[in-house]
Amino acid sequence: MRAKIALLPGDGIGPEVVAQGVRVLEAVAERWGHSFETTSALIGGAAIDATGNPLPDETVALCRASDAVLLGAVGGPAWDTPRAKVRPEQGLLGIRKALGLFANVRPVTVHEKLAAASPLKAEKLAGVDLVVVRELTGGIYFGEKSRTSLGDDGERAVDVCTYSTQEIERVVRVAGALALERRGKLTSVDKANVLETSRLWREVTHRVVAEEFPQLEIEHLLVDACAMHLLQRPASFDVIVTENMFGDILTDEASVLAGSIGLLPSASLGASVLRDGRQATLGIYEPIHGSAPDIAGKGLANPVGTIASTAMLLRYSLGLETEALAVEHAVHHALANGALTADIAPKGTAAKSTSEVADAIIGQLAKGLVSARA
Ligand code: IPM
Ligand code: MG
Repeated sequence: MRAKIALLPGDGIGPEVVAQGVRVLEAVAERWGHSFETTSALIGGAAIDATGNPLPDETVALCRASDAVLLGAVGGPAWDTPRAKVRPEQGLLGIRKALGLFANVRPVTVHEKLAAASPLKAEKLAGVDLVVVRELTGGIYFGEKSRTSLGDDGERAVDVCTYSTQEIERVVRVAGALALERRGKLTSVDKANVLETSRLWREVTHRVVAEEFPQLEIEHLLVDACAMHLLQRPASFDVIVTENMFGDILTDEASVLAGSIGLLPSASLGASVLRDGRQATLGIYEPIHGSAPDIAGKGLANPVGTIASTAMLLRYSLGLETEALAVEHAVHHALANGALTADIAPKGTAAKSTSEVADAIIGQLAKGLVSARA
């Protein structure tokens, strides 16, 4: 197939990990006879430096004209002053909103060889295989923000949190459909004992599941309890659905189960549309880690989160399930064979560089094809 992929490398380690993701996509294109046309554009701090705008119009236009977007990370100390008028993160939030990507899918699995990289006991980690579906274009992230002066008493800052029935319904449907394909359990996370948005969240989730997904087992958890249960009984979760900020926080927490935030991929998806006679979903695929400016440019960054994101890109935006599985298997085997960056390499062992880990994954991809043909 032919596909157009927009690359938004961003800041810090973003460009290094995206470069490795592109190598994997090129390897996939070569092996399976696809043609992926990649075009880069600016976002975040890099875009502020070049244009003054964290999300230039050309970047949005390129993404809209593409089948999928591979993104690195945004942000860094250079743009991090509290009073800054423009911030790199506005670029990321802006592109999610502009493309209508309301469902952020973040899978968390534990590789048996990496259990030691997590501070949790190995017995707690056995069987962990969960997906967080985070609402991505609503809630407190996108509500009105303001500051007013209180004269001698300082200032008051306001962030408004809103959710509508429709915003909740559509993300719960994504999570429900995913749970049906998996182990049939959905956990909805809110703070319904305190927040009105959470009370609406719980009501709508309860109704959508009862009407449209009666086969699912549904559990409603308060976010504080969920934060605890994620560490106490992580293997009991299948699909978790939650609002924007709770999802942001819980996925960083959940990454500790995997051993490193550098391992985890994500897909930000919108409604699917008919494109060239096929139901297709434009999505942004990105590792869940940040720009890690402290290790940028040193070849230390873990490329696995980005490479695993390319597998999600192949699956959700290009409909290439075989290729997606091949990338996932290659990642699995490369990790099992010791292709470990410093964040996950056991103490006293030599860590591999960003590009060496990608080399190992690409090598596995080639091997996988040979054994599949044999
Ligand atoms: C994430 C990040 C972003 C978010 C930041 C960089 C704005 O933490 O993708 O989880 O909060 O959504
Ligand atoms: Mg986050």
